[in-house]
Amino acid sequence: MTTAHRKILVTSALPYANGPIHIGHLVEYIQTDIWARFQKMRGHACWYVCADDAHGTPIMLRARQEGIEPEELIARVHQEHTADFAGFHIGFDNYHSTHSEENRHFAITIYERNRDAGHIVKRTITQAYDPVEEMFLPDRFIKGECPKCGAPDQYGDNCEVCGASYSPAELKNPRSAVSGAVPVQKASEHYFFKLADFEPMLREWTRAGHLQPEVTHKLDEWFEAGLQAWDISRDAPYFGFEIPDHPGKYFYVWLDAPIGYMASFRNLCDRRGDLDFDEYWGPDADTELYHFIGKDIIYFHALFWPAMLHGAGFRTPSAVWAHGFLTVDGQKMSKSRGTFIKARTYLDHLNPEYLRYYFAAKLGSGVEDIDLNLEDFAQRVNADLVGKVVNIASRCAGFIHKRFGSRLAPALAEPALFEAFAAAGDTIADHYEQREFSHAVRAIMALADRANQYIDEAKPWVIAKEEGKEEELQAICSMGINLFRVLIGYLRPILPATAAASETFLQVPPLTWEALASPLLDHEIRKFKPLMTRVDSKQIEAMLEASKEDLAAAAPAPRSTGPLAGDPIAETIEYADFAKVDLRIARIVRAEHVEGADKLLRLTLDLGGETRNVFAGIKSAYAPEDLEGRLTVMVANLAPRKMRFGVSEGMVLAAGPGGEELYLLSPDAGARPGMRVK
Ligand code: 2FM
Ligand code: ZN
Repeated sequence: MTTAHRKILVTSALPYANGPIHIGHLVEYIQTDIWARFQKMRGHACWYVCADDAHGTPIMLRARQEGIEPEELIARVHQEHTADFAGFHIGFDNYHSTHSEENRHFAITIYERNRDAGHIVKRTITQAYDPVEEMFLPDRFIKGECPKCGAPDQYGDNCEVCGASYSPAELKNPRSAVSGAVPVQKASEHYFFKLADFEPMLREWTRAGHLQPEVTHKLDEWFEAGLQAWDISRDAPYFGFEIPDHPGKYFYVWLDAPIGYMASFRNLCDRRGDLDFDEYWGPDADTELYHFIGKDIIYFHALFWPAMLHGAGFRTPSAVWAHGFLTVDGQKMSKSRGTFIKARTYLDHLNPEYLRYYFAAKLGSGVEDIDLNLEDFAQRVNADLVGKVVNIASRCAGFIHKRFGSRLAPALAEPALFEAFAAAGDTIADHYEQREFSHAVRAIMALADRANQYIDEAKPWVIAKEEGKEEELQAICSMGINLFRVLIGYLRPILPATAAASETFLQVPPLTWEALASPLLDHEIRKFKPLMTRVDSKQIEAMLEASKEDLAAAAPAPRSTGPLAGDPIAETIEYADFAKVDLRIARIVRAEHVEGADKLLRLTLDLGGETRNVFAGIKSAYAPEDLEGRLTVMVANLAPRKMRFGVSEGMVLAAGPGGEELYLLSPDAGARPGMRVK
């Protein structure tokens, strides 16, 4: 099996620099990483680059709410993201930022070349403007009542209650989500990229095998609807790159986001010194360029991106591959169910390779959503990885170590079986290449079954007790170890850490695909150490509880430094709604640390005769001893909530942005526990 040496550049979509990585994101990074690791194992030059997507209004506002500069926010998030990715063994060759000099350079280059070729026009448009904050408002920063069903507090473009989509201008009683002010309409000049100039090129490109068939089909609908010019500028205040010669105008975040792929690769070239940027991005590049993305951002990657590149004289992608969304137990990830699981929370409880394996077992080349069924997850990891694969090594290694000085036999017991394992490599490789990982996993597990069956039939534990069968015993166990080696080699793109531990056990250099076809004979291995432990359903439960805790801790932290020093005033409610909330004066009789909780304190509250146990996310602002004895206000009729550490029977009230700046409410002197707050 020899394949020509290929040069491949692979990317995953750039995550926004204002929030944590969660398991929904990880579908894509794990998918891309498996593919890239597979290509590397095949001996190809494969570079996997990514970056943080650091620009835009949400990031600017988020930094402002935290009272820091955007640069500080994106530096912090960059650290968090890289640590999370490393935790999941995502092997980027480079992880950069769109807020970088390389990206500024390419954004300006691509803009100027398209402008000079006549593909950029100026138009004056009218948009919602916040007169208090003096800024234009993106749709998601306008809230109001749904024009269709009247639901309050809906975002500017669609209603979460009835599902209607509309324009922000149609919202009733619109408010700026930044200041709470009533938005006004204001005109300003914007720059537009004339996408329609590229229609012939795009029609051809989108049908030339660069996209999945179902995506091409979707694009046909978009062509039918007509290609509209794309607004690529934003007015100050904005966090991004200023457009050259147009002070106060910035590139829209989505203009420079995909350019971040180039910037990250440029940065890698500069760091290494042995890579030629133009070989991968120049107009005549004959290398391969692939973008893995989610299905929600196809428009940007399959229309704007190839058009921008083409208009600026760069190569277009070899392919853009979209995947579906993640559901957990058949439903959208939910904060209240604890299924909105952050990468870090997962890592606190479970082995990352469990998830890599589970996603691989579910992933195909299409855009269908994939479901993480938590019961199936545990069952499958335990049955396949622990029960089948790792078990093969543990069944054979002991004899090799104790009886043969850790040396494998000079010949295989069943050469034909080994040959069958080696021969399966081409099919499995083909599945990986085509991103049909679920097929690859199925084929590998079928081999694992055969390996176990071989050992069941050869019965080394029986042979071991018989006299004069030393050679046979060594041959059988060496056969088992060799079958294990091929299996772990085939699984290596999915399980890089277990593969590395197996390489140490086998005393072999990093396994390549090619190496797997030849057996390991007359070779000394090390003492076997368990390579993977079983998933315990308690770990899963703890992870779900901790995800609920994240939510509880986050709850008292609406951060903003707008004129209201907090969130905009919420929708008006009727008195009857307010009256439903039973607020009471409570005395904190005891406050304690909660083992294992970063943000919570356990409070014992006296309500004037009744005692309540409440977990409050106020540990960052208060030491327990400062709280004992004082009065505060609590919501007394909140439904009890089961948390990881126990049941919380109510909530205490605090104001402030969060962190150290959190202020527990206190009544004036004279108030007594149990009094109702009205
Ligand atoms: O949708 C998102 O999360 C974007 N940050 C993806 C950008 S991908 C690329 F274009 F940069
Ligand atoms: Zn509605």
